[in-house]
Amino acid sequence: MLIAPSLLSCDFSRFGEEIKRMDNAGADYMHLDVMDGHFVPNITFGAPVMKYVRSFSKKPFDVHLMISEPLKYIDDFCDAGADIITFHIESDSDPDLTIEKIKSRNVKAGVVIKPKTDAESVFPYLDKVDMVLVMTVEPGFGGQSFMADMLPKVEKLKAEIKRRNLDVIIEADGGIGEGNIASCAKAGVDVAVAGTAVFKAENPKEAIENLKKACEIN
Ligand code: DX5
Ligand code: ZN
Repeated sequence: MLIAPSLLSCDFSRFGEEIKRMDNAGADYMHLDVMDGHFVPNITFGAPVMKYVRSFSKKPFDVHLMISEPLKYIDDFCDAGADIITFHIESDSDPDLTIEKIKSRNVKAGVVIKPKTDAESVFPYLDKVDMVLVMTVEPGFGGQSFMADMLPKVEKLKAEIKRRNLDVIIEADGGIGEGNIASCAKAGVDVAVAGTAVFKAENPKEAIENLKKACEIN
C-alpha cells in the first residue's frame, strides 16, 4: 500500500517544511487538496501557492482538484509541478477534454467519485486514466469518519480494471487510519490518502509504517 499524506491537515504557516517532514517520514506521494469554495464548502490554495512548495520534495505531487471547472486550471497546476491530477466526475468540465488536457502535458490523469456517485460512472473513462480516486468521506474537510460502505465500489472498480487488463491504480481518500486501512487494501486500494492519521500522530514516520504494516498483517 502506498501512503499519500494529505497536506490539508498540515500547519500552512510552514507549508514547505511540512512537505519536507512528510518526505522524511516516508510518504510515497504528497496529496494536495485544492478547494474552491464552490464545488465544496471550503477554500484551500491554488497553483501559485503549490509552485512555491514544489521544491521541498521530489516525491510525486498528487493534486486532488475539488473545483467546479477543473479544465480551466489544468495548465496552471501542470506549470506548478503536478505529477498526478485528479478531478471530480461531478464537476462542470467535460471529462474527456479534461483527461486529454492533463495527458497532453505528460501528467498522470485521474477521475474522482464522491460517495453518492457509483463506480459505473467512471467506466467510460477507465481506458484513458491512470488513477481512480474513490472518496470515503464527503469531500471538503479532513477529520471525518471513514465510510466503509464505499468499499464495494472499490471492489467493483478493481474487477473492471482487471477484466479490461488496464494499468489503472485506485486511490481512497477520507477517514483512513490503522483501523480500516487493511479493509481498503483487501478491497483493492493501491494508494491510501491519510491526513489526520499522519499529521495528528506524534511520529509521522511511525504512523506511515504502521499504516503499511496493518495492510500486511490483516
Ligand atoms: C477531503 C480531502 C482529504 C482529507 C483527508 O475532502 O480530500 O484528502 O484531507 O483527511 P483525513 O484523512 O483526515 O480524512
Ligand atoms: Zn483529497
